[in-house]
Amino acid sequence: MAGSCDCSELQADQQAQFDLLSQVIQNYEKKDSNLIQILHMAQAIFPYLSDDVLHFIGEEMDLPLSKIHGVVSFYSYFETRPHGRHTIQVCLGTACYVRGGTKVLDNLKKTLNIEVGETSTDGRFTLEVKRCFGSCGLAPAVAIDNVIHKRVNANKLQEILNQYP
Ligand code: FES
Repeated sequence: MAGSCDCSELQADQQAQFDLLSQVIQNYEKKDSNLIQILHMAQAIFPYLSDDVLHFIGEEMDLPLSKIHGVVSFYSYFETRPHGRHTIQVCLGTACYVRGGTKVLDNLKKTLNIEVGETSTDGRFTLEVKRCFGSCGLAPAVAIDNVIHKRVNANKLQEILNQYP
């Protein structure tokens, strides 16, 4: 049935992901120095590094969870929360900042009811900040899924968001 959850299929998928991660970990010595590499592999297997995934890595590698959390929170490229279907990046480089980038960001936070780094509750958008796309003549600029929208203002925002279901 459309829209229903086939939970058994979902669980089987997840089990396959954990099995794969387990195989990956077995290829490494249980050493702290291998943790970053394993986390990279885990992030390639799972959409993000959930608590369950971090627990699993800790158990398989005999490492305390605090150690794993420490590494994950130190490096910004590790995702610990689900990502939205679309990624909005607001430029706050000098040109965009001067020409209203912060207003655009505030507007997006309010409209989506999220802070930077968060995902809207409908799973549609994740909000991020960047420092210059190299399109300063188009300031303030916003990229959605790497497509740059130029000279964005509050009026244009809703129209732009509507293009991303
Ligand atoms: S400062 Fe925003 S694109 Fe360069």
